[in-house]
Amino acid sequence: MIGLATWRELPELTGGEKLLFEELVRRGVAAKIVVWDDANTWRDCSEIIIRCTWDYSSRLPEFLKWIDEVERAGITLHNSPDIIRWNSDKHYLRELEMRDVKIPQTVWFPRGGDLHSFLKENGIGTQIIKPTVSAGAYNTYRVSPETIEEVVAALEQVAREKDLMLQEYMPEIESPGEYSLIFFRNEFSHAVLKTPAQGDFRVQPRYGGQQEAVQISEKLMTQAKWILEQIPFVKRPLYARVDGIVRDSEFILMELELIEPYLFLEFGENSAARFASKLTS
Ligand SMILES: Nc1ncnc2c1ncn2[C@@H]1O[C@H](COP(=O)(O)OP(=O)(O)O)[C@@H](O)[C@H]1O
Ligand SMILES: [Mg+2]
Repeated sequence: MIGLATWRELPELTGGEKLLFEELVRRGVAAKIVVWDDANTWRDCSEIIIRCTWDYSSRLPEFLKWIDEVERAGITLHNSPDIIRWNSDKHYLRELEMRDVKIPQTVWFPRGGDLHSFLKENGIGTQIIKPTVSAGAYNTYRVSPETIEEVVAALEQVAREKDLMLQEYMPEIESPGEYSLIFFRNEFSHAVLKTPAQGDFRVQPRYGGQQEAVQISEKLMTQAKWILEQIPFVKRPLYARVDGIVRDSEFILMELELIEPYLFLEFGENSAARFASKLTS
């Protein structure tokens, strides 16, 4: 039995994520949707694919305990426990940068420090400050020398408990937008371009962001695939979403999504079939 893991608020998965489930059922694969923090739903699975566990970043210690539990139970987890643990904190970008992956210029803020002085000392015009453990642009702010006070007020409590990262602002996010390239076992499947609402910088739909299917160049695809090959694990991830912007025809990595990315399956023709075939082959 293959379990597609979700969280309680999305008991039937959501949007294009339902397509994989339907595809598996069509192929006669025994599959069901399971709730990650309800062992009664997943105990009898031989494999679990993490899909819509969208509460994981706000409950990370609990989620990582669950990963341990699944591993101990001998259930095959996609992506693998070591990849999940590594990918759950954006400090992994530092490691990728050391392997020559291009990322926005980033300064790291350890929790408990003086956020006001940190922003003053590292200010270079417009920047983005965000937690290293986050999702969906949660607690993500645009900051400039004039807005330091209000951003510190907004993040004061968070900065006591969480590491933060300060990045140069990438205006390409607004136009043309942020690319998401989806791969199955490092084989390219399809791509989406995401743009924020006018005046915003967050591409997420909850802030008015839009997505569209996009054709990308061979060069871009090759760059994203190369980035994926830099992850420090032998086994290629079953699914991966490589998020980034393009500057001077070079892909700059914003995020490598290897835990519970929305995979935009509804935007890629036959993408659910490509996903399923990697699982059953
Ligand atoms: N350096 C940056 N420049 C411009 N926009 C950014 C930058 N970092 C983040 N953003 C915006 O904030 C969103 C959320 O940040 P991201 O790093 O993708 O974290 P997560 O998706 O885990 O919340 C991005 O999709 C993008 O719209
Ligand atoms: Mg993101």
